[in-house]
Amino acid sequence: MHFRKHAPSGALFASSLLLVAAPQLASAFYLPGVAPTSYKPGELVPLYVNTIKPVAATDALLHSVVSYDYYHPFFQFCQPEGGPKRVGESLGSILFGDRIMTSPFELKMGQNETCKSLCEVSYHKGGAAFVNHRIKTGVSLNWLVDGLPAGQKIRDELTGTEFYNPGFLLGQEDPATNKIVFNNHYDIIIEYHAVSGNKDQLRVVGVLVQPESKKYTGKVGPDTCLTQMDTVSLGESSETKVQFTYSVYWIPSPTVWATRWDKYLHVFDPRIHWFSLVNSAVIVVFLVLTVISVLLRALKRDIARYNRLDQIELDDLAGTSALEDGVQEDSGWKLVHGDVFRTPSHPLLLSVFLGNGAQLFVMTGFTIMFALLGFLSPSNRGSLGTIMVFLYTVLGFVGGYTSARVYKSMAGEKWKLCIILTPLLVPGIVFSVFFLLDLFLWAKESSGAVPFTTMLVIVLIWFVVSVPLSCAGSWLGFRAPAIEAPVRTNQIPRQIPPTTTYLKPIPSMLLVGILPFGAIFVELYFIMSSIWFSKIYYMFGFLFLCYGLMIMTCAAVTVLLIYFLLCSENYNWQWRAFLAAGTSAGYIFLNAMIYWVSKLKLSGFAGSVLYIGYSLLISFLFFILTGSIGFFSSWWFVRKIYSSIKID
Ligand SMILES: *[C@@H]1O[C@H](CO)[C@@H](O)[C@H](O)[C@H]1NC(C)=O
Repeated sequence: MHFRKHAPSGALFASSLLLVAAPQLASAFYLPGVAPTSYKPGELVPLYVNTIKPVAATDALLHSVVSYDYYHPFFQFCQPEGGPKRVGESLGSILFGDRIMTSPFELKMGQNETCKSLCEVSYHKGGAAFVNHRIKTGVSLNWLVDGLPAGQKIRDELTGTEFYNPGFLLGQEDPATNKIVFNNHYDIIIEYHAVSGNKDQLRVVGVLVQPESKKYTGKVGPDTCLTQMDTVSLGESSETKVQFTYSVYWIPSPTVWATRWDKYLHVFDPRIHWFSLVNSAVIVVFLVLTVISVLLRALKRDIARYNRLDQIELDDLAGTSALEDGVQEDSGWKLVHGDVFRTPSHPLLLSVFLGNGAQLFVMTGFTIMFALLGFLSPSNRGSLGTIMVFLYTVLGFVGGYTSARVYKSMAGEKWKLCIILTPLLVPGIVFSVFFLLDLFLWAKESSGAVPFTTMLVIVLIWFVVSVPLSCAGSWLGFRAPAIEAPVRTNQIPRQIPPTTTYLKPIPSMLLVGILPFGAIFVELYFIMSSIWFSKIYYMFGFLFLCYGLMIMTCAAVTVLLIYFLLCSENYNWQWRAFLAAGTSAGYIFLNAMIYWVSKLKLSGFAGSVLYIGYSLLISFLFFILTGSIGFFSSWWFVRKIYSSIKID
């Protein structure tokens, strides 16, 4: 991976927390699979076009989340002879919004060319209004040359470093005249590197595009575009003729192929990033350690007391005890020993959620591990999406097994329903929402809409691979012995005394949920900006740490809640643990809404629906994930404490 920039601070952290991941933080490497392409001088280097994506407008806010196909009829970009063709892509790449097509640009390796004309287009009123509106709200063109995104050189004022930001503007608003300027000329600057000085083995190591607006009058010759010229604006009351041109400049570069992505991967203020991460890590570790030590001490005392009481009772029977007056009655969590392992309400739903939670948990863990090991470099387009879909599908087995095992342990009887619902309920909800949002995108003629064939592929993978695997897992889960409770459950349920305020469902959920959210809050900001502002996300080292911290916090606070709950003689811990831990997803949704207010300015209805829809979807998955972490840690805890006391 590309963690070069972290190296100094990486060393600081590696010793304590990241022994495994440290080498990845300090070195950059590529895995086989993305082999370099070498070109001879004069050989054609294909330029592919990707979607037109919304970017922050001049006010630094994002005005839209809808992206468009490059060849959307309103843009009228010049097409290659015989029409544009789709370039083969991975499933993950399509799911994550790539729509790569061929283009009419001709780049000949190592040959500078100026003012080549492409085609002439006339924009009529409707099209012009559409394009002008896109320019005003900010959209960028995204091209790929030899797998590298065409970007613009940007200087980070804070650190004084330069980096390449993928994408360049379709047009801009002239601040002096308030005119909307349309870019019709592109200076394509390509950096190339000769492999060990060999003039016949040239590789592309950097792509920059400088778009310009030029109002041509008359025929375009090889020098026409080099002169200063008026800008083009698309008139919304009459037709505007626009001539598209481009120049290509090849610049030799010392950058070698293996490190060509480094310039694209820019960390905005890594110091602040590390600072806030270390900060939250320290707080979380401190909190978890406090919880564990307090809990351990309380438990030790409780267990010692319970066992002493037992001893006294035994002595009583033998008539040898002298001091029974001072000893209190049985109290606290021991009282509910006959009820803690009582089957909770809706065991089927809980088991199905837990199965899916386990599946998500393992998938996320594996994905982050893969990313950390360098398998998911941005040069491998869509690898993140592909690996996630693949892992989720294969791990259906884990989901089925977990759900069946839990259901059997809860003495559930509708095992057929459990087998069927595990692979259908949660993925079904996710797929339906996804499909509905896709309908919105279709209606907007957005390229973000996942094509029908891809949808079909997903449904096929789901039903042909994931569902059978899940059923196989369930079958094994039901064959395995139930996880026996360490204490017997009484016939008649005990009365639950009224609880104090903070242990009531809602306050306890709000209290417990905020801490796991706090652990990932900083990272979430970067993930959100990579999703919505299409920045490249590659800080998997940070992500790995945050995921670990989140799991720890989630487990620790839920266990603490369950301890207090049991002490207050409330034995309905199963759903409480799941829901309380899952509440952190509510905070994530809330965070998304705050992000909406502060960073976005979505004008259209469809944009708002999409944003809320995707936020809900992510929060729902997060709810299942954290809820399951909370439940399983509490289950382990409850089993542990009740098996360590003697019950007659
Ligand atoms: C192409 O143009 C660039 C910029 O003007 C120049 O640096 C480079 O040497 C030129 N390359 C060739 C092969 O002429």
